[in-house]
Amino acid sequence: MSHWQELEQKYYMNTFKRIPLTLVRGQGARVWDEDGRQYLDFVAGWAVNNLGHCPPVVVEAVTEQVQTLIQTSNQFYTIPQLRLAELLVQNSCLDKVFFCNSGAEANEGAVKLARRYGQLHLNGAFEVITAMSSFHGRTLAMVAATGQVKFQKPYIPLPTGFVNVEYNSIEAIKTATTERTCAVMLEPVQGESGVNLPDDNYLTTVRAWCDGKGILLILDEIQTGLGRLGTLFAYEQYGIEPDIMSLAKGLAGGIPIGAILAKDRASVFTPGEHGSTFGGNPVACAAGYATLKFILDNDIAGNARRVGEYFTTGLEGLREKFPFITDVRGRGLLLALEFSSDIADSLVTACLERGLLVNRVKPNALRFMPPLIIGKEEVDEALGILDSALVSINQGSA
Ligand SMILES: Cc1ncc(COP(=O)(O)O)c(C=O)c1O
Repeated sequence: MSHWQELEQKYYMNTFKRIPLTLVRGQGARVWDEDGRQYLDFVAGWAVNNLGHCPPVVVEAVTEQVQTLIQTSNQFYTIPQLRLAELLVQNSCLDKVFFCNSGAEANEGAVKLARRYGQLHLNGAFEVITAMSSFHGRTLAMVAATGQVKFQKPYIPLPTGFVNVEYNSIEAIKTATTERTCAVMLEPVQGESGVNLPDDNYLTTVRAWCDGKGILLILDEIQTGLGRLGTLFAYEQYGIEPDIMSLAKGLAGGIPIGAILAKDRASVFTPGEHGSTFGGNPVACAAGYATLKFILDNDIAGNARRVGEYFTTGLEGLREKFPFITDVRGRGLLLALEFSSDIADSLVTACLERGLLVNRVKPNALRFMPPLIIGKEEVDEALGILDSALVSINQGSA
């Protein structure tokens, strides 16, 4: 066990099943460990490093901002916060923004906003319908929103006000909707539970149902937003617009940030009803502005779409070669491979030994969420390593 692993065991809470690798440096799509070994990173901080590691535009923006103004209270106006809010609104279907510090916090705020809307416009309706196998974060309320027993069970009793229903079933949403319902909250594509795509027309039907009932549609685009699926936001691909959207992860190039965006009619907070000490912090927002501007100016979403298609074709090729690959799915650069047995852990290790970082999203599935700036060369390299890792697993089990 390395020195750092010993320190972790001694001093850090036992919350993460870690991979025995201490990363000390990153550049572009690559990271280096403490022994100087290099890895191609197809995990990207769990879909955070959309522009790669230490992107120069973010390094520059942060360096300048930390020398100018690091933090003030939100009693005062600050320029990076307002520039980023303007850029987000100009490039989305939403009208107003609130910044916070993480994805879970953005979703909490989104739910608070929907509840406030319910108080004001829906006779006090407060319940939010969410999907099974969703993932919305780790706060108590977001654990209740997250439709997965394994995250909920250790914390029972959970906050009330959430109904978890079958994913991809409009009938389940219809049945769960009552006079208590203020919103439906969904990930456009479920990331954490295995890259589960919505059925054709699911999201448009949900949108129509919400419109018919006068309730809000919240889209959690924390993983799917900022270009990952091949468009700036996933909702663009499904022909709908949310009333409220949450963002985090890739918004500030790796600096912690979260955001709630809302249409004017749903933007019902008044002073004092919501807040944050660090939310909208100048450094995070300067990083966010630099990141979003770079994504827009360089068509990073288009790159994710093109490279994602190329990667998908390569993964399909692996499926033809290895019959125990049962599914290739995803969009843009959020992709998954599923297997007929629980080999994902062994594959993560085999890829690691060969210099590629990948994510075990389920015992029998890998998820790929590389930086969105990668090209075909990096995809070819990853496919070569995956091929070799699959051969080794196949031989090991033969
Ligand atoms: C769709 C989605 N929502 C919310 C979250 C929670 O974000 P955070 O870990 O920043 O709280 C995640 C994190 O993986 C996510 O994928």
